[in-house]
Amino acid sequence: MRTDTSPAILRSNYAPPNYLVDTVELGFDLDPALTRVAARLTMRRNPDGRSNEIVLYGDAVELVALRMNGKPLTRRAYRLNGGELHIPNAPDEVTLEIETALQPDANTSLMGLYVSNGNFFTQCEAEGFRKITWFPDRPDVMARYTVMLRADKRAYPVLLSNGNLVEEGDLGDGRHYALWEDPFMKPSYLFALVAGKLVCQEERITQPSGREALLQVWVEEGNLDKTQHAMDSLVNSIRWDEARFGLELDLDRFMIVAVGDFNMGAMENKGLNIFNTKYVLANPRIATDADYANIEAVVGHEYFHNWTGNRVTCRDWFQLSLKEGLTVFRDQEFSADMVGTDSGRAVKRIDDVRVLRQAQFPEDAGPMAHPVRPDSYVEISNFYTVTIYEKGSEVVRMYQTLLGRDGFRKGMDLYFERHDGQAVTCDDFRAAMADAGGRNLDQFERWYSQAGTPRVTVATRHDIEAGTYDITLAQSCPPTPGQKTKLPFHIPVKVGLLAATGADLPLVLEGEDAASAPTTRVLELTEASQTFRFTGIEGKPVPSLLRDFSAPVILEYDYSDDELAFLMANDSDPFNRWEAGQRLATRRLLTLTRMVQDQEPMRETTANLETYTAVLHKTLDDATLDPSFREMVLTLPSEGMLAEQMDVITPQEIHTARQFMRRLLARTLRNELVQLVDLNQTPGDYSPDALSAGKRGLKNVAMLYLSELDDTDTHAMAQAQYDQASNMTDRIAALSALQNSSAPGRQDALERFYTEFEDEPLVIDKWFALQATSPATDVAAVRALMRHPAFSMKNPNRARSLIFSFCNGNPSRFHAADGSGYRFWAEQVIALDAINPQVSARLARTLDRWRKYAPALQSQMQDALQRVAATPKLSKDLSEVINKSLATD
Ligand code: TRP
Ligand code: ZN
Repeated sequence: MRTDTSPAILRSNYAPPNYLVDTVELGFDLDPALTRVAARLTMRRNPDGRSNEIVLYGDAVELVALRMNGKPLTRRAYRLNGGELHIPNAPDEVTLEIETALQPDANTSLMGLYVSNGNFFTQCEAEGFRKITWFPDRPDVMARYTVMLRADKRAYPVLLSNGNLVEEGDLGDGRHYALWEDPFMKPSYLFALVAGKLVCQEERITQPSGREALLQVWVEEGNLDKTQHAMDSLVNSIRWDEARFGLELDLDRFMIVAVGDFNMGAMENKGLNIFNTKYVLANPRIATDADYANIEAVVGHEYFHNWTGNRVTCRDWFQLSLKEGLTVFRDQEFSADMVGTDSGRAVKRIDDVRVLRQAQFPEDAGPMAHPVRPDSYVEISNFYTVTIYEKGSEVVRMYQTLLGRDGFRKGMDLYFERHDGQAVTCDDFRAAMADAGGRNLDQFERWYSQAGTPRVTVATRHDIEAGTYDITLAQSCPPTPGQKTKLPFHIPVKVGLLAATGADLPLVLEGEDAASAPTTRVLELTEASQTFRFTGIEGKPVPSLLRDFSAPVILEYDYSDDELAFLMANDSDPFNRWEAGQRLATRRLLTLTRMVQDQEPMRETTANLETYTAVLHKTLDDATLDPSFREMVLTLPSEGMLAEQMDVITPQEIHTARQFMRRLLARTLRNELVQLVDLNQTPGDYSPDALSAGKRGLKNVAMLYLSELDDTDTHAMAQAQYDQASNMTDRIAALSALQNSSAPGRQDALERFYTEFEDEPLVIDKWFALQATSPATDVAAVRALMRHPAFSMKNPNRARSLIFSFCNGNPSRFHAADGSGYRFWAEQVIALDAINPQVSARLARTLDRWRKYAPALQSQMQDALQRVAATPKLSKDLSEVINKSLATD
């Protein structure tokens, strides 16, 4: 069924703009009910353009007046079709004056100009500027902006836009104005304004070049006690980009503003980053260690965009990963460098790989699969995906793996040398890397053009007599929509070989000099199958494959349980040490799941688990490993991860098996877990540093295991932690342990928690999410929570905290056999679409892989999808996702 009428935009149709814009002057008369915008654009014919027709885009914006070179344009001088305004036969030099009228307080899409809690904000990426005025709203049109803001002084005392404040004053009638000038050329998607009652924390820093800059973090009154961590993160980001990439802040003023209604995490508008409050506000009372880490990462991410995204931007939206993949890579490296220790860095890597495997691999294997540089889209907002961001980051990381850290830095330097101030493509980035590294990276292009997760199958052969060890790597990639067959990728596979002692062997490839052989090396797989022969290998080694997860692939090798236990205990690569434990646990869990499916009693006994628990013991007691690393080792693969390993997904059975294993481990490791809780207390003042956070993480994961035992001792332990907690990390972990049990105080704790944090929206989000993801919460309970006075569909954070958390984070209840979860999903998708298409389209993604599930579930999922498809007036965003989910090709 195809109800979609919106045409797909094709990458192959790219044409340069006919006109360029030199300057943009914007005048805003801000009023929530009716805002008037006057735009004055000076434009000139683009020598690379195709014709003398000016093309402007507009979306739900009323055109009040239009003048060209001083004269009003008659209705016959231009053509309006839907979102496009064409002015044919325009002169070479043009000044356009455009007046528009908007209703910000009626704008629930949170794109363009909107009102949140009485203040004005904008969001223009990707195509939101056209909701403000008619404009050549495409990233390859870069211009210099001057912005005049006028508003009531009492209601909107603070008036902000990009760049430098050049003038401000009173207008007499209770209104005031501020004039801002951005010294840098920018595409329209980086425009921003903020107006309202806000306060700021500020700090001045000196750049290595001697220039001073003013840093500000703006929040609503009452939140100034929650800005220090964001400010610290900003200062750290600035210092890190100087040190690691030689990139300085190019502005006199850099502002971060927090807003409670926001579609995504944050936005890198030039000099005026706008953030979801979730990624700014923190103090020990309201924020967890994970929140602190996320804030650091997102502040870094948006700051790093100042060079990778803003100074060098994208030619068109198909190139989105050029800025997003690269900037995610940069923020991942920043966060890792902020931790410092080896096993701490590995924990960051593990976290990132988990996201990739749990979210991107499924995307790559489903109906929305697309290459890192897509070939087509209907609605670009649907392409802010884990493929563009996370897989894009892995692609950038592979350049660093292939060229080395110094080589990569040279590539970055060359990229800026060539393209500063330009709007470019992924090919331009690859060319800079290839040229700086003196390497042919032609085949590497396939990482951008081919979708799907490659599989690398490994076979090994040890020849005792010859002392050789062969590693044969074979690659394949499954078909994805529109791409039936794939060509081989250029895959860096980092490997090591462990001797029986556990030590790394020197790696000498056949024909090489044995002197100074490294113990880890990168094998470059470029063909469908290749064999690498190592020499001087006496005893049979255990291979450590894809160290540090050197490529975004699924690696298959037939390890024995003993080999995995050996790697878990000995591998010098901490990522693979963790990985070995996960493989071992996954095996046990899949066996258990099969038993539940076959209605056999789960026979998994302590004896069966011995290999696994023995190394768990060893790892947990190893004080040389960061507590956060030990926490990772103790954490079982998620239900989602396990689902990925199955041909036919049965969520109930996975849940039952995993719960069984958790209880078994809790019983087997009981004494050890209790000890971990005791040994990892963090008394004294709260600090979010990696070591303290790691201790809390390890302690809390141990406590959560213990809560599976559901006895009076473990109840008392959780209750005591809840009552005594001095920070949100410990508080919410204890609350969740209580909810996971039949502890008598559990309902009371939940209610007390609400009352205590009623005035902290971000904490109330946690309160909703905790209940939404509890296996005790069914659809009826979620519906009841939706009637809670604190619930709102209009606030994306709140909708996500309850509805998304349930649909994505509570598999055993969402996938109820009677299909009630899916009917709930359909209702909410439809309801959200009338409010905010970006949010509804995200929720729609929850069912896009319906074909992977057991038949009884599948047909009910299909019904739910069809019900949404049959609803009139769906947004372009939502219909693209639904149509692709139901498509049969
Ligand atoms: N470019 C932003 C980032 O990577 C994210 C972003 C894109 C966004 N589109 C958006 C944020 C729409 C909010 C709304 O950080
Ligand atoms: Zn980004």
